[in-house]
Amino acid sequence: MSKLVRFGVSLEEDLLVKFDKHIKKNKYTNRSEALRDMIREELVKKEWTENKEVTGAITLVYDHHTRELVTKVLDVQHDYHTCILSTQHIHLDHRNCFEIIVTKGRSKEIEELYQKLKAIKNVKHAGFMMATKGKDLP
Ligand code: NI
Repeated sequence: MSKLVRFGVSLEEDLLVKFDKHIKKNKYTNRSEALRDMIREELVKKEWTENKEVTGAITLVYDHHTRELVTKVLDVQHDYHTCILSTQHIHLDHRNCFEIIVTKGRSKEIEELYQKLKAIKNVKHAGFMMATKGKDLP
């Protein structure tokens, strides 16, 4: 762990009041921890906009009885097999499936995979979570 450095921040009182309400609502114990998280969040976003190697998760909800839907979902995943680490398939009920696709690769490729899966006709819901490999994030 690198050494702690203190720095002063000047900002408008109204903004600080809003920030304090925000951190209280989000259960932070102090401003420093909230600020650290916000900075990390921005750095992860930067990794994604700069097409770095990142990790992420895609979720899908679909009815596996819908004709050819499973085949289409699998075809797209095979096209992107180099950036899929694992896929977990959960049978929610007799018809509905929930799938979690864990990815690692260039951000543009993962976003493309997500867009293609989301665009498949009759996919009920597609979710997306940006994450990081963590290696370049203190
Ligand atoms: Ni299923």
